[in-house]
Amino acid sequence: MDYNLDQGGPTLNPDAADTAVDHKAPYVDNGTERKDPARYYARDYMAKEWERLWSRVWTIAGVASDIPEVGDFFTYDLLHESFIIVRTGPGPADVKGWYNVCGHRGNRLVQAEVGHVEDRFTCGFHSWQWKIDGALAHVTDAESFRPEVLDCAPDLVPVKTAVVAGVVFVNMDDDARPVEDFLGPVVEHMTSFQVEKMNVVRHVRSEWAANWKTGVDAFYETYHLHAVHPQTQPIMGDINCQYDCYPNGMSRMIVPIGQPSPHFPDQTSINEGLQYMLGSVGLDAASFKGTPADVRPALAAAKRRISDKFGLGWDNLSDVQLTDSFATGIFPNVQFGMHPEGAFLMKFMPHPDDPQRFWYDTITLVRHVDDPHFRVPDWMGLPEGTDCSGRERPDIEHKGIGEPPELGLVLDQDSELLPVVQKGLRSKAFKGPLWCEQEQRLRHFHNELDRYIEGEK
Ligand code: FES
Ligand SMILES: [Fe+2]
Repeated sequence: MDYNLDQGGPTLNPDAADTAVDHKAPYVDNGTERKDPARYYARDYMAKEWERLWSRVWTIAGVASDIPEVGDFFTYDLLHESFIIVRTGPGPADVKGWYNVCGHRGNRLVQAEVGHVEDRFTCGFHSWQWKIDGALAHVTDAESFRPEVLDCAPDLVPVKTAVVAGVVFVNMDDDARPVEDFLGPVVEHMTSFQVEKMNVVRHVRSEWAANWKTGVDAFYETYHLHAVHPQTQPIMGDINCQYDCYPNGMSRMIVPIGQPSPHFPDQTSINEGLQYMLGSVGLDAASFKGTPADVRPALAAAKRRISDKFGLGWDNLSDVQLTDSFATGIFPNVQFGMHPEGAFLMKFMPHPDDPQRFWYDTITLVRHVDDPHFRVPDWMGLPEGTDCSGRERPDIEHKGIGEPPELGLVLDQDSELLPVVQKGLRSKAFKGPLWCEQEQRLRHFHNELDRYIEGEK
């Protein structure tokens, strides 16, 4: 097929207005350079990333729906640093971030991943206390301190924190520009899918023997689907995927769902995968009259009826948004897969000491619908019996190196692949990746990373 190289590949909705969420962004020419593979394993590169990237860039800490009540908190670790994200009031902006460290002797103040305090945090070493607004509230045996020692008023140290579409961002750089400027069009992408109305129903943190960027790279393209995830071919357009690159290293791919890959041999019958997709929206596959090309429009129409029936307000979404997978890359380390029914927030979290390890942090969110007839679709891959009411925040499930993350077949396949790729990246014979335009998001991401590492950002 003609790949439309000049335009950066396929366009899924040629009729989309310039301002529409599914509009194809103008092609960004990121060149053809090969990157030095040392970035995937060298310790000095990792040190530069800490100094020039992580300590200056906005990153996603978590979601605000995890902390609905005043005093609810979660902790967010970024390499060796840790933050407490706590709700201090009812408003959307009443989410504060503090460095998670005790001002007395440097103990990590809070150890829990998610929790609630009445009004203060207490250090486990000598019981100093801080209010959730950061003010020092209690010093044990204060009379035993010479007064000038406590003169520095060691309140908790704030980290810049912002909430966008229910997602909590932090930035260690006090002079960082507003997060909305950094995100650009991604803000509207998130709000259009009503992400702020979704709740976390599953959270799996699994450790993989690879660099965090080896993880990002693998999730930023559909080029590998035919080889690694052949089971997706009956229902996913891989080479038909629309890729979009935006300012500040942001990017997006829209993967058409409900049509066979052009690589799939059977282009004429309603294959089992398509039958499954029809069934997922309550359509009877056996009586479906049409070709594979008719399936996506049928899915979109069925979803519009679901929206009307349950009052979901999906009227603002295009057909492409209703049926396809919108995977948005939020620079530097997130892929946010958004659908009307729910979302997959995937964070590629670097290891604090080892450039060849990262945590794949997968947070599954669903839109809660207060109607017993509404069902979260099976394709979201939630285990049988998952509580989708949003009433209780599930604990994080931890998986160690080499353990399958148990996030469904596709992700288990990726977890097996990535450590093998990581090994190859270190070979003397490997001179850096040769990216095609199906991999344009990788080039866009790495070029932006270079701008940080080289001090241009
Ligand atoms: S280290 Fe926290 S109270 Fe002493
Ligand atoms: Fe994959």
